[in-house]
Amino acid sequence: MNMKTIIILIKHNVCIHVTRLMNKVAVVTGGARGIGGATAKLMAENGAYVVIADILDELGTKLANSINGRYVHCDVSIESDVEAAIQLAITWKGKLDILYNNAGIGDIGGSITTLDMKRVSKLVGVNVNGVVHGIKYAARAMIKEGKGGSIINSSSTAALMGGLGSHAYTLAKEAILGVTKSSACELGLYGIRVNCVLPHGVLSEMLVDAYRGFIKDVTVEEVKKSVSGSASLLKGRYGMVEDVANAVLFLASDESGFITGHNVAIDGGYTTSSIPMTFIYRDKKSESVNGS
Ligand SMILES: NC(=O)c1ccc[n+]([C@@H]2O[C@H](COP(=O)([O-])OP(=O)(O)OC[C@H]3O[C@@H](n4cnc5c(N)ncnc54)[C@H](O)[C@@H]3O)[C@@H](O)[C@H]2O)c1
Repeated sequence: MNMKTIIILIKHNVCIHVTRLMNKVAVVTGGARGIGGATAKLMAENGAYVVIADILDELGTKLANSINGRYVHCDVSIESDVEAAIQLAITWKGKLDILYNNAGIGDIGGSITTLDMKRVSKLVGVNVNGVVHGIKYAARAMIKEGKGGSIINSSSTAALMGGLGSHAYTLAKEAILGVTKSSACELGLYGIRVNCVLPHGVLSEMLVDAYRGFIKDVTVEEVKKSVSGSASLLKGRYGMVEDVANAVLFLASDESGFITGHNVAIDGGYTTSSIPMTFIYRDKKSESVNGS
């Protein structure tokens, strides 16, 4: 739909869904479910052609079909799989505008003194190498096309504070902040923006699995209650996959055209404040006047 058509539709009071990624081509890794799934859907609703790259073939294919997208089996830790996923977007629509490097895995906790280095390497293979593979092949395609692009990487608030993830997960998510900045620095020359989202306590299978690593029979409702009670400044609010999807949509769209090399924390303000210290803001004087 071009601008002239939109103006005609508005003149005739035709209700239109304003699309923010009209005709853009996107690849979403880990797009079969969770945050990636919600983002793939939202991107498609906003006019993008979306390639879902994941290892969950059944879920990924079903979602891709429902949004008129494409699915490709892609283990992001394997460089050639990621290259093929980017190539699929180019074969399908002739270009790549957006890459959301979202695929990631969690990890159990445990002491640094007993860290299993094989587990660390496996996690780094997916969470760090996967992101680097994505940036590498998306950048190649975008540079070749010569029209810029937007790459969004998925880090975590665990990259900002200790105590929010295992050692392996923390070091991996911190590495993503680094490569986001270094690649934004290089790729700005070609009009390619590279930013990062840092989700926090977002209700997904990964979060529930993480809780179950410590409390075997915890229910989804109990996880919701726990995160909304202690993981956000916003009373009763927990992170939803759509919260992250909306932030990614903004970073993917031209609305964020002057934003690159940055991190957006989707954390209900958690990393900005010391939640146990909020008693400081209780107004003692008015409490005593009111007798409360
Ligand atoms: N949920 C949270 O609270 C939270 C917090 C911080 C960061 N994150 C990050 O957000 C991203 C999405 O997490 P989620 O909560 O939606 O988790 P999720 O487990 O629901 O989804 C992760 C997706 O990645 C896919 N995936 C896993 N390994 C893969 C591989 N090797 N190759 C390709 N795809 C693979 C999975 O199949 C799945 O579809 C992850 O990078 C995660 O670390 C999540």
